[in-house]
Amino acid sequence: MLKKMFFSPFGETRTPYSVVRIMIVIVVISYLLKHCKKEKRPWWKNSIVYQIYPRSFHDTNGDGTGDLKGITAKADYLYDLGVKTLWISPFFTSPMADSGYDISNFVDVDPIFGSLADLDELLKTMHSKDIKVVLDFVPNHSSDEHEWFQRSLRREEPFADYYVWADPKGFSDSGNPIPPNNWLSKFRGSAWEWREERGQFYYHQYHRKQPDLNYRNLRLQEEIKFWMDRGADGFRVDALKHLFEVEDLSLDEPVNEEAGVEDNLQYNYLKHPFTMNQPETFEVVRDWRKMMNTYSDKWFTLCRDLTPPLAPWARLLIVQVYNKDIQDVVKYYGSDTDPLADFPFNFRIIKKLHNRSDVTGTRLMKIIDEWFDNLPEGKWPNWVLGSHDHSRVASRLGADLVDALNMLTLLLPGTPVTYFGEEIGMQDTEISWEDTKDPQGRNFGPDHYRKHSRDPCRTPMQWDATANAGFSKGPSTWLPVNDNYKTLNVKAQSEARESHLKVYKTLARLRQESSFAKGKLAFPVVTDEVLAFIRYLEDEPTYLVVLNLSENDVVVDLHQHTNLELPPDASVITRSVSDKSEENSPGPKVSLSALMLVKGEGLVLQLTFAKEIE
Ligand code: GLC
Repeated sequence: MLKKMFFSPFGETRTPYSVVRIMIVIVVISYLLKHCKKEKRPWWKNSIVYQIYPRSFHDTNGDGTGDLKGITAKADYLYDLGVKTLWISPFFTSPMADSGYDISNFVDVDPIFGSLADLDELLKTMHSKDIKVVLDFVPNHSSDEHEWFQRSLRREEPFADYYVWADPKGFSDSGNPIPPNNWLSKFRGSAWEWREERGQFYYHQYHRKQPDLNYRNLRLQEEIKFWMDRGADGFRVDALKHLFEVEDLSLDEPVNEEAGVEDNLQYNYLKHPFTMNQPETFEVVRDWRKMMNTYSDKWFTLCRDLTPPLAPWARLLIVQVYNKDIQDVVKYYGSDTDPLADFPFNFRIIKKLHNRSDVTGTRLMKIIDEWFDNLPEGKWPNWVLGSHDHSRVASRLGADLVDALNMLTLLLPGTPVTYFGEEIGMQDTEISWEDTKDPQGRNFGPDHYRKHSRDPCRTPMQWDATANAGFSKGPSTWLPVNDNYKTLNVKAQSEARESHLKVYKTLARLRQESSFAKGKLAFPVVTDEVLAFIRYLEDEPTYLVVLNLSENDVVVDLHQHTNLELPPDASVITRSVSDKSEENSPGPKVSLSALMLVKGEGLVLQLTFAKEIE
């Protein structure tokens, strides 16, 4: 019957019954066409991207390191949290010189994290809860223990030029080979490492155990397909801007006078015109984009070709690029006719605000405006507050700001990126030199490692008040658990009447509402102390978010300062946990003429209307 309906809709005789069948086919096709054309909203636009650092999320086998089974075991937590996309940092085979960003087999799971079967189980579980899973893709380098590198070292074909090899510039008086140029590694020191076996240097942008792949000879594509075949919903591409270096390896990079860095082995001592953002990078991203767009489950082939963005099966492509000039970042979006990444991470909040006193309403407004003003036509914003490479929000910007900043990033238009643990306001952990694992920290030695180590933000997730914060049942953990876990943990915050976790869940639920998902945006008040924004959509509720970014309690008269006509009062939907007042407790009406906010507080209010002043 089905076969007949789809493959032989005209039948031999045109009975009224076959007319019905034709009509059904027409209706189905027009439905698909209509929705494929109209609904340009892929799944990741409504989603929060939640970054899981697998080593630190949950350990199920007691070895002190998190694993894939541990992520799967927390599926209900993730579902309740309201995050619809997970980005999992590398769990591929690795000697762990850079916590898994040094991969020795791109298409397998490292035993410390589990097995491919565990990943299949994870994908199945998350998909059954309608949670997408994005993997980390590290195309710039492999581990020096990767078979390709070992064979390249022996000049075996076709591996001989898989990496960036160069002859020495000369030899010192004592006979030591001199690197071909002055390029520096991001982890400090020369970016060149000599290998006697080959009589050449190889280039490593990061750790010496992370040799750079030579993109003029090899382009990782099969590795992407491998994971998509297993059900991955997308990729976060690591260190993209370093994919290519100039071909002429005799060129030295110039000293960065403005940076004022004295240590000539430190990366920022130099400017980097020859080792980043080379034009060929865009060709590679374009190829990945095309491949990912044409790649889909066979059932959806027809619709995929119509408009990939519609599809719940569209794959997400995020790229990690840090550039000072915003134009050098947003060009990774490409355009409607030449699509590249779905988005490059927006690290502006992290990069422009370094401590509590940097956070003001006007500065945040500038950061928000800058992204919107430079966003290419038809592209979607994103907001990143933290990652495994940066100090945690509560420690970097202030524990009092945790809820307010989550309100900002979850309720502005765009996709927010939450680093695991930020939903409970986890803080950096003090790590001794002896316990330090991060190669970037270790390269600076015992006197300076604190300024450079990324370990403090990578410590285990704090689940409850039991030993090891409920992260592991083993005798010890790969990095120490923060001492504050007895009070700062998921369980305590689930049980508390008000908590960061509860605020976060409310925000995650709210952002699904049309006013936030598709609504317009206005900023009625922007001062150094206060940033307020309104999200509204015809026939839908209007919301006002007010953030007191100052370090003092304030009383705001929203009628005085606003550029919009607002009602006399509003009801409170949620507020920062630091506000214990009766007036602002969720529910009852508060006066917009005298809104009291404690330091660092955010309030989400529902209004009966907000009108432009004529
Ligand atoms: C990216 C990652 C970082 C890693 C580096 C090398 O910057 O975020 O953690 O050390 O790439 O792969």
